[in-house]
Amino acid sequence: MLTAFAAATFPEPASADAVAPTGSTGPSGSVGKFTGGAGAYLSFVFGEKLGVGYGVEAFGTFLLNRESSCDSSARSGIGPMVQFGAVDLGRPRLVVAAHGGGEPGNRGGAWVEGELGATFRFGKHRGMGLHTGVALGAPYLAYGFGRAEFFLNEYSVGAGARVFTPFGIPGSCMVGRPLRTESGIAQCGRAIVASQLCEPLRCDAPEWVAAEWEQDAQTECASVPAFLQLAEELLMVNAPDHLIEEALVAAQQEIAHARLCARVAGRYAGRSITPTLPMFAARAPLPRGIALVRLATESWLDGCLGEGAAAARAEVAARSGDPAIRQVQAQIASDERSHAELGWRVLAWALELGGANVRDAVRAISNTTPQEEEWPQDRIAPRDGADHGRLAYETRQRIMVNHVNDSRERLDSVLTLAS
Ligand SMILES: [Fe+2]
Ligand SMILES: [Fe+2]
Repeated sequence: MLTAFAAATFPEPASADAVAPTGSTGPSGSVGKFTGGAGAYLSFVFGEKLGVGYGVEAFGTFLLNRESSCDSSARSGIGPMVQFGAVDLGRPRLVVAAHGGGEPGNRGGAWVEGELGATFRFGKHRGMGLHTGVALGAPYLAYGFGRAEFFLNEYSVGAGARVFTPFGIPGSCMVGRPLRTESGIAQCGRAIVASQLCEPLRCDAPEWVAAEWEQDAQTECASVPAFLQLAEELLMVNAPDHLIEEALVAAQQEIAHARLCARVAGRYAGRSITPTLPMFAARAPLPRGIALVRLATESWLDGCLGEGAAAARAEVAARSGDPAIRQVQAQIASDERSHAELGWRVLAWALELGGANVRDAVRAISNTTPQEEEWPQDRIAPRDGADHGRLAYETRQRIMVNHVNDSRERLDSVLTLAS
């Protein structure tokens, strides 16, 4: 349903020879961000003795790759982990290890990692072993593992739940509502740019202005299937009709945003620009409890924070510049504000239904600081975009920080109400 509806509105990404980029926005970002989390596991233990293993764990990860807020590049990292567990009603043990691995696909997608360290078993069967393990995880909560405690003759296979993955929260892109797939946030391609020249709106505008409006058109376009997916996932957990209808209305509004941004980009580039959809497939349904956690955490990140910040930025951008562009930003601001409010409504509903699990998951990510927004390396003069509907980097950052702080205060009230 998603593919058919969205593809009927926008084309799939064009082939390379049909795309003529209007400019480039080089990636930036930071290396070495530290993240962490906690979890619990259950296992079948064999070797010296058959039994049921269980325990809790905490981990930290030092990310090794360049980290950026809005792309979908996979992450990798290493860090410490500790586990405290037991087998049946005895054999308590402490594992102190290093873990390391990465996401083989996209950012926020499935992950795999290895573990190496020491196991200290206490009590009647005290001893020390070499801990090794391999873990494979899904984007949300669940993971499976195989572990061996050499010299203690203990082996185990099992499953666990972690909040969140070893490589951080599932994304905090601040452009708008990103399209999340099984393998992470979908990467936006390039728009189709006609080779035929038309009359440019402003010949004096720097080249990056057209490129940034084109990029906006692409991210707005990705928000169309993102809202269709939200509507479908709400339907699957029997959410109230009004939430599903609001998500469908938002998808329609994102179509309009994509077209408006593409029109502005085209007028700056002097060529007709058509937005394209990222490649995507609908996500597989989750068990109801985990689906509610996903709905709540994504509503916080993508709706309350992401679209709320997008609305605040568009409101400021609508105060200056060309009247036609002010009108575009004003419409985007009004619609994005309603999308952010939809995020708050979905969050409140999921909290009410999901109870402590949903509440704990949202609380766990509520203090995560959204990463700094990317800023194109080639945009040398960050203050000269106001006439063209583009905000300076400092302005965007200030708006985002204020919005995140306000949203956290509001979230505290929402969580208190839900307790
Ligand atoms: Fe939008
Ligand atoms: Fe939106």
